[in-house]
Amino acid sequence: MKVDGKQFRTIWRKPGDECVVQLIDQRFLPHDFVIEEVRGADQMARAIREMHVRGAGLIGASAGYGMYLAVLEAARQKSFDEQTAAAAAQLRATRPTAVNLSWAIDRQLQAIAGGQTAEEKIALASRTADLIADEDAEHCRRIGQHGLALIQQIARSKPNKKLNVLTHCNAGWLAFVDYGSATAPIYAGHEKGLPLHVWVTETRPRNQGSKLTAWELGQQGVSHTVVADSAAGHLMQRGEVDLVIVGSDRTTHTGDVANKIGTYLEALAAKANDIPFYVALPSSSIDWKMRDGKDIPIEERGAEEVKNADGWHDGQHTVVRIAPDQSAAANYGFDVTPRNLVTGLITERGVCEPNEKSIRALFPERPNGGRRFGELSICC
Ligand code: MRU
Repeated sequence: MKVDGKQFRTIWRKPGDECVVQLIDQRFLPHDFVIEEVRGADQMARAIREMHVRGAGLIGASAGYGMYLAVLEAARQKSFDEQTAAAAAQLRATRPTAVNLSWAIDRQLQAIAGGQTAEEKIALASRTADLIADEDAEHCRRIGQHGLALIQQIARSKPNKKLNVLTHCNAGWLAFVDYGSATAPIYAGHEKGLPLHVWVTETRPRNQGSKLTAWELGQQGVSHTVVADSAAGHLMQRGEVDLVIVGSDRTTHTGDVANKIGTYLEALAAKANDIPFYVALPSSSIDWKMRDGKDIPIEERGAEEVKNADGWHDGQHTVVRIAPDQSAAANYGFDVTPRNLVTGLITERGVCEPNEKSIRALFPERPNGGRRFGELSICC
């Protein structure tokens, strides 16, 4: 996608230096555009844990490149296997909810195991990291096309009227390698000239909506308005929302969806107001082992994120205290929206109902409870 008119992905290899991966450090957006150079698995683990990069797809792609850097480092040591296993464990422990993280690490471990020599393992890890990133971008592009058909269908029932889409948090291109999941249909519709307007919920406590989604929609010229999270129900009641599209950090193969905290309340409000509630996700976010959304591990982050707010003041990143010092605060990163509140899942292979039968019909090659890698899914 474009930043000040120039094409960017969220993560890429540094041209001319095979030991460096570059990424957009999202902690400084929307006020500063900073590119970080990552030179090792340890640094990549920190970038994921401290949310320089975030969002399910990008966490997966970053872990893929982190494993590539780990293999480069391990090739210089005697204990190759222990080194790569330690890096895999370190990366895996960074964030618990997005399933893309362990999906990418397992895919890398399987690929690396196919090489005999260090050179072969490096080549395999390098190719797999690029495949994970390219696949993520291509799958999001396809989600855009399938979601566009849905938007066009709704637009036909409201000829010449503004179409209001509500989205939560950032399931935009910054949460993936390119295009985004929830935003991809919006970008596709915008390109086709549909009169779209997006309600962007700010998404406390880290404000990925007001900081990131608003910024990226602005960069692409999409009309949008930032609202407090608690405004979503009010807007729906007043007929100001035609459609909700959110992303997912982990979706069970039975259709329960873990997404940023607050999503469940929006889904309840959408159901009560008869508004279609879609979840856009690449298949790398589907957990093929987990049946029940209640089993999804929910990240709990530091209380300071809730007690404080941060932003830009006089050209400086500034943190201010909101809650009383003595008050306890709890910071749940995600919640689970049960399948009965979801209208449909928009995947790279099309739209399906949020149930096991319909999901498996789109992905018949997935073994029950197992994982499958290596088909460059840019084929369907
Ligand atoms: O905590 P984050 O920023 O990594 O959370 C991820 C998200 O932005 C959302 O939950 C998003 O809707 C799904 S990730 C594509």
